[in-house]
Amino acid sequence: MAAQIIDGKEIAATLRKGIAVLAGELERTHGVRPGLAVVLAGSDPASQVYVRNKGKAAAEAGFHSEQIDLPGTVTQEELLKVVDSLNARPDIHGILVQLPLPKQVDERAVLLRIDPRKDVDGFHPMNVGALASGLEGFRPCTPSGCLDLIRSTGIRIEGEEAVVIGRSNIVGKPVALMLLEQNATVTICHSRTRNLPESVRRAGLVVAAVGRAEFVKGDWIREGAVVIDVGINRLPGGKLVGDVEFGAASQRAGFITPVPGGVGPMTIAKLMENTLIAAERTVGKNR
Ligand code: GUN
Repeated sequence: MAAQIIDGKEIAATLRKGIAVLAGELERTHGVRPGLAVVLAGSDPASQVYVRNKGKAAAEAGFHSEQIDLPGTVTQEELLKVVDSLNARPDIHGILVQLPLPKQVDERAVLLRIDPRKDVDGFHPMNVGALASGLEGFRPCTPSGCLDLIRSTGIRIEGEEAVVIGRSNIVGKPVALMLLEQNATVTICHSRTRNLPESVRRAGLVVAAVGRAEFVKGDWIREGAVVIDVGINRLPGGKLVGDVEFGAASQRAGFITPVPGGVGPMTIAKLMENTLIAAERTVGKNR
């Protein structure tokens, strides 16, 4: 039977509407308008699109938003100074430095410099540690968006065999930790995994985050499984596809995310949610 399509666009739109309402409330009750600063170094076209979309979403939620454009030749010291000045500003609650950074800049040093209370990407080692040890902190946006999409299906995560394909710091590792936190039985697979199809065939829940077009074949998918496709890959003809062979996989899966329109919109919605949470925390509101 054909899978149900998980409509990330709609789920994200609903989430963003709720965030706009809460942001309005925060401003009325406490005079605090959530503020997001996005730093872009260089002129990578994909990064430019992502950053523009983040700014638009922030404005739509009623946030203050600003974009700081730096040349591709920016030095590490200059970038760290920009981060320092954003850390010090009370009207900025969330700071996002768009990755990848130019090669002369040490990404780890930059992420480490962001005040963890403003680290709405959830990339600071303090927030990574909080996730790993089950403490409160900012959860990275794409993984927490994946969890929302999985929850939207109504499946029971607890006890489920989950396979995560990909072990990046941005998606694979944190999404695996979040699934573990929800008591799934989690296997992390990657490029050196032996017999990957066999692992995927066991899974009732598959998260694909390898960054290779249609790498996960439809016949690897267990009948009825939930498939979350994090990949966005452009084929030579220009078509956007995920990491999963969508046509064949959707004949076997129970639920599947499309590309585009699945995980992508959730990343932005979760960034808005984290920025709102950061602003709420400054007035002692905690959820
Ligand atoms: N580059 C690609 N994805 C992301 C993301 O989620 N956050 C940041 N800061 N950079 C990225």
